[in-house]
Amino acid sequence: MNRKEFLKGMAAVVGSLAVPGSVRAADFHSALQDAATAGDAAFWKLIRDEFVLDPGWSYLNFGGLGTCPMPVLNSFWEWTRTEERAPSAGHDEKIWWDVKERLARLLGPTCRKEDLALISCATEGLNAIINGLPLKKGDEVITSTHEHVAVNVGLLNRMQRDGIVLRLFEPDLVRAQGNVERINGLVSPRTRLILVSHVTCTTGQLFPAPEIAALARSRNIWFALDGAQAPVCVPFDIVDTGADFYTSSTHKWLMGPKRTGFLYVRQGMLDTLRPVTAGAYSSERNDITKLDLALHPTAQRYEYGTQNDALFFALGAAIDFVQTIGPSRIWAHNHALAEKFYKGLQGIAGAEILSPQEDAYRTAMISFRMKDRTYSQINEQLAKAKIRVRPVTEGGLNCIRVSFHICNHDPEVDAILDALHTLA
Ligand SMILES: Cc1ncc(COP(=O)(O)O)c(C=O)c1O
Repeated sequence: MNRKEFLKGMAAVVGSLAVPGSVRAADFHSALQDAATAGDAAFWKLIRDEFVLDPGWSYLNFGGLGTCPMPVLNSFWEWTRTEERAPSAGHDEKIWWDVKERLARLLGPTCRKEDLALISCATEGLNAIINGLPLKKGDEVITSTHEHVAVNVGLLNRMQRDGIVLRLFEPDLVRAQGNVERINGLVSPRTRLILVSHVTCTTGQLFPAPEIAALARSRNIWFALDGAQAPVCVPFDIVDTGADFYTSSTHKWLMGPKRTGFLYVRQGMLDTLRPVTAGAYSSERNDITKLDLALHPTAQRYEYGTQNDALFFALGAAIDFVQTIGPSRIWAHNHALAEKFYKGLQGIAGAEILSPQEDAYRTAMISFRMKDRTYSQINEQLAKAKIRVRPVTEGGLNCIRVSFHICNHDPEVDAILDALHTLA
C-alpha cells in the first residue's frame, strides 16, 4: 500500500468507526510492514510523514513537548465528534480501562492496569505524590538540583505549608553509582521520601533507579520517580525501577494528546498515598448521610470528575502507534541519532558536553554549552538555522538540550552540528 492509498483507506475508516484508534492502528501496521520490506529509509520516511510538523523547521524538542502523529489526531477528532454529537456525562469505562490495559503493557509485562490512574500531566501526578503522602513537620525529602520546576515548586509548597525539610544533591554526571552514594550521604533518621527524575530534564541523565530503590527499601524510605521524560524515551520496566510511585506526562515522548499523563502506585501502596483531589470515580462507595467512604480499590481513586475522554481514548491510539513501530526499534533509532550528535559535539571547538559520561546512562537527549557563548546566543543561532531546541536554566546549567525522536533523521544531526561549527 502506498501512502496515498494508505491515507485514502484511513479517510474511509475515519468516516465509519466504532472504535477509531484501534482500527486505524491496524491500517498503519500494514502500511509499516510494507515500508519495512522496502528498507529502513522507507520505514522511517513513512513515520516522518505521519507528523504535521512544520517542514521548514527541525524539531529537536520532544523533551519539551511532543507532537501527535496523524492516527492520534484522527482518533482525537473522531472521539470528540462522537462526544459532541451526543453529549453525556461520564465516560465509557470499558474503553477507559482498555486504554489502561494497553498502557500497562507498554510499561512492562507485570505492570497492572489497576495500579495506573489516567491524569492530566506529570505535574498533577507529582503533586498527588508530594501532597498525598503523610509527611509531617521535620520529615525530610531527598531530591536533586536537576529537577524540573514541577518537582521544585511542589516540594517548596509543601515545605512552606507543613514544614518538611528538603535535602539536595548535585547529580554525579561521571559515575551513575555516585548518585546512589550522594543520596545515601543525605539519609537521616528523618528521611521519609526520595523523589528524583527517572530521566532528568537538564542533561537527559538516566538515574540508576533500581539501585536507588534498593537503598530506599533498606532504610524504609518511600521512593518516587518523576518519569515525565522516560516512557518511550528509554526502554524500561516500571515495576523493575522499584519505585513506589511513578508519574509521567504522555504528551511528550509517547506522543499522546496534550494534558494526558499517568500516575502509577505500586501494589500495596494505595492506602499510603491519600488522594488529594477526590470526587466522582474516586470512591467505590460513599454516603454522606452515614459519613461513609470507601475509596476505589484501585488507582482509579486518584481520578475524579468529568474527563475529556477523547484525550485518553486518543492516548490509546498513541500507545498503538508506539507499539506498532516497536519501543526497542524507537530506542535504537533515537539513541543512534543522539550518539552521533554526542560524538559530533566532541569535535566542536569550545563545546562542553554535560550529558553523562557513561553511555549506559545517556538517553535520546544530549545537553551541552559552549565556551564564550551564552545559551541564548546558541539558541538564537540555532533558531536562525530553523532548529528548535530547549534552553536549560535548571540547576544553573545555562545550556542547550537537544532531543531526538522518530520524526528526526541523520540530516538533522548534520545540520545542527554544522550550525554549531559555524558558531564556534
Ligand atoms: C522531568 C520533568 N518533570 C516534570 C515535567 C512537567 O511536565 P508537565 O508540564 O507535562 O506536567 C517536565 C516537563 O518538561 C519534566 O521534564
